[in-house]
Amino acid sequence: MNRRTLFGTAAGATALAAFARERSVLAKSSDMDVELRGSTGRMERLGTLELESQQDFTLGFRVFHAKKMRRMSGMLLNDALIEAGLDPKETMTYDQMLEIADKNPQINLASRTWIANQQVTWKTLQDYFHANADMYLSEMEAADNIGPGTLELSPDMYVPEYTRHEIHIQPDGYVGDPFAGHVYHYGTNSFYISVLGHNEQDQIHKNVAGRLPLPADGKVKRILDMGCGIGQMSAALKERFPDAEVWGVDIGGPMVRYAHMRANDFGNGANFRQALAEETGFPDGYFDLVTSYIMHHEVPGEKTKEIIEEANRVLRPGGVYTPLDFVSGGTTGRAAQLHGRWFDHRWNNEVWSLSYHSIDFTKEIAKRGFKKIAGAPPIARQFGDRNFAKT
Ligand SMILES: C[S@@+](CC[C@H](N)C(=O)[O-])C[C@H]1O[C@@H](n2cnc3c(N)ncnc32)[C@H](O)[C@@H]1O
Repeated sequence: MNRRTLFGTAAGATALAAFARERSVLAKSSDMDVELRGSTGRMERLGTLELESQQDFTLGFRVFHAKKMRRMSGMLLNDALIEAGLDPKETMTYDQMLEIADKNPQINLASRTWIANQQVTWKTLQDYFHANADMYLSEMEAADNIGPGTLELSPDMYVPEYTRHEIHIQPDGYVGDPFAGHVYHYGTNSFYISVLGHNEQDQIHKNVAGRLPLPADGKVKRILDMGCGIGQMSAALKERFPDAEVWGVDIGGPMVRYAHMRANDFGNGANFRQALAEETGFPDGYFDLVTSYIMHHEVPGEKTKEIIEEANRVLRPGGVYTPLDFVSGGTTGRAAQLHGRWFDHRWNNEVWSLSYHSIDFTKEIAKRGFKKIAGAPPIARQFGDRNFAKT
């Protein structure tokens, strides 16, 4: 059921009543809940129909782009390689690929339409939350100190320059806008639908959280989700392990603030802390499970190595480390593969993505006090096989 079908149908009325019951968790513990046009489960409706329609439009375009225009652009690259006397299956460098791709106006057109759509998606959302700043800030303030989970913000902490970029063109990035969490939540909804599937109810995070392997002794008392963003994975882990102490850490204060408010909304007791993944502040050996979801391609390769070391430090012996991110490794490849990575880097402002791909993430883990867990299946094809236990 989507948000349109929720209104004016018997099934919709039943679903709305269920959601209202869910929302009463917040009403009991806080006097401020902004839900102007109702909610579809974990996704609150946007405040105006006009904005919601704009988001539907950009989402639709993004799906069309992912399914058709990127494919067309791939075919054009193939043709251009053949015309230049090259075999599309050949391994080449970024420079060799760009020599062909960057000169092709049709390929560039596909890239530019994508970026324009991405910019409109973010800007319309950011403008909306800023136009209603008082109301949305008051809502977050009201939720800061209520539970079931806790929130630890560190407004004076050092925020490294490398985290300040406007990754995937999100205006002011994860750390510079008080509504970074709100904007990210709605903006990434279209990313998920066009690339990985529906995630309005955290379906993707729940699926992944449900498949993480356990330590050999089966004991899971404490869990850490690094670079937790708006806490979709952290909340899903708390649902899978209701008795465990679950922590999500993220450098973005506005991200964890929104994560905390959102988790409270549906009565989820995950805890959130503003902290760097490479310096989480937890004691040695504290956790049984450490994970992360699509954080590493957004940090420099050298930082990824530090983060692996921090994961090792905070895990107990036998604890499990399963960081989820794209298969990495190599500065050469087939033109189509390199163009995909280049597209993200150049057009989606994934500033660290080439740095991420320049190291072999899986091998870097194996070098730092971890051993592959025999027989644990990979969590998802595009994320490779990174189920490790601390030795
Ligand atoms: C693509 S988002 C993924 C968020 C979340 N895991 C999810 O599944 O939606 C990457 C997140 O990593 C965070 N991040 C980036 N570098 C970090 C670092 N060094 N320490 C902690 N968080 C970091 C960003 O602030 C952002 O929220």
